[in-house]
Amino acid sequence: MLIKTKKSYQLSEQQVTDEAIYHARRKVLKQLGFLGAGSLLAQSANASPLDFFSSKSAEVFQRQALNFKQAEKSTEILTPEAKVTSHNNFYEFGTAKGDPVENAQSFKVNPWQLSISGEVDKPYTLGYDDLFKSFSLEERIYRLRCVEAWSMVVPWVGFSLADLIKKAAPNSRAKYVAFETLYDPEQMPGQKSRRIGGGVQYPYVEGLRIDEAMNPLTLMSVGLYGKTLPAQNGAPIRLVVPWKYGFKSIKSIVSIKLVEQQPPTTWNRLADHEYGFYANVNPDVDHPRWSQASERRITTGGLFARNRIETLPFNGYGEEVAQMYKNMDLRKYY
Ligand code: MTE
Repeated sequence: MLIKTKKSYQLSEQQVTDEAIYHARRKVLKQLGFLGAGSLLAQSANASPLDFFSSKSAEVFQRQALNFKQAEKSTEILTPEAKVTSHNNFYEFGTAKGDPVENAQSFKVNPWQLSISGEVDKPYTLGYDDLFKSFSLEERIYRLRCVEAWSMVVPWVGFSLADLIKKAAPNSRAKYVAFETLYDPEQMPGQKSRRIGGGVQYPYVEGLRIDEAMNPLTLMSVGLYGKTLPAQNGAPIRLVVPWKYGFKSIKSIVSIKLVEQQPPTTWNRLADHEYGFYANVNPDVDHPRWSQASERRITTGGLFARNRIETLPFNGYGEEVAQMYKNMDLRKYY
């Protein structure tokens, strides 16, 4: 059998989100004993908890995982790491795209506490090390489509939000999931000053319906490009919901609460006619101030690179998610 030697983050997203590959990769990770390795590595002062994703053994895992796939269908070019980590929206650190990388460098992520609470039988809290060792980590390559009409292709490392929720044993009143970013104005200059923070009401909050939260595509990310998340991308843990506009993918999360009513969300609170609760990527429903029919894909190439592409319904993930909205008017529930 042909063994490909590409790194796993070079897989196309179709390959990575394919159900068979997805399960196969998790299995291989388990077989090779990588699960839990994060905590061991984290004990050494300089090691990143995700070092194993770029280690020699990880290459073996990648090759084994690749044996499970038949066809080569690479259609996406990854956005270079340097762009993923320097062109950011993280208003807690400033509103310009270059502000977060500049202002978040001394942001402390360890120790950290993420609480899972609300309508659950078994509430629990994860500390920093637990974020890397409590669930099966895997690599997923997803498109990230910002509501501002630019997009990237990012190799995330993380685990399914569904796994985290199931562990808390939600009860029958758990209809929605409410997320909250850390509130720490001493560390986050945007929370201290309306001018720096763009007039947003902090802490930043987001929400999903329970079926959206349990969808296998919904990822809790702790890394990208095989390393722990940089502060500007939402360290130590963030949400990634690839079929929704990027503002749903809330960063630096400290609280996940299962609730009965639809929770408030930051951008909806700020301008509800512009940003809805659902925020599914939809080329047919324009933002009141600009078209959503196309997007600028951030890849290599300079200012004049031809990188304008058509926007796809649900950001191209319709097969996996469209059925959740089959009886809804997506113009009304934008
Ligand atoms: N989370 C918090 N807490 N604060 C923010 O300002 N910006 C959102 C989202 N998550 C934001 C956030 C927006 S608008 C986008 S497009 C993505 O993060 C950007 O993620 P990235 O910087 O990793 O590309």
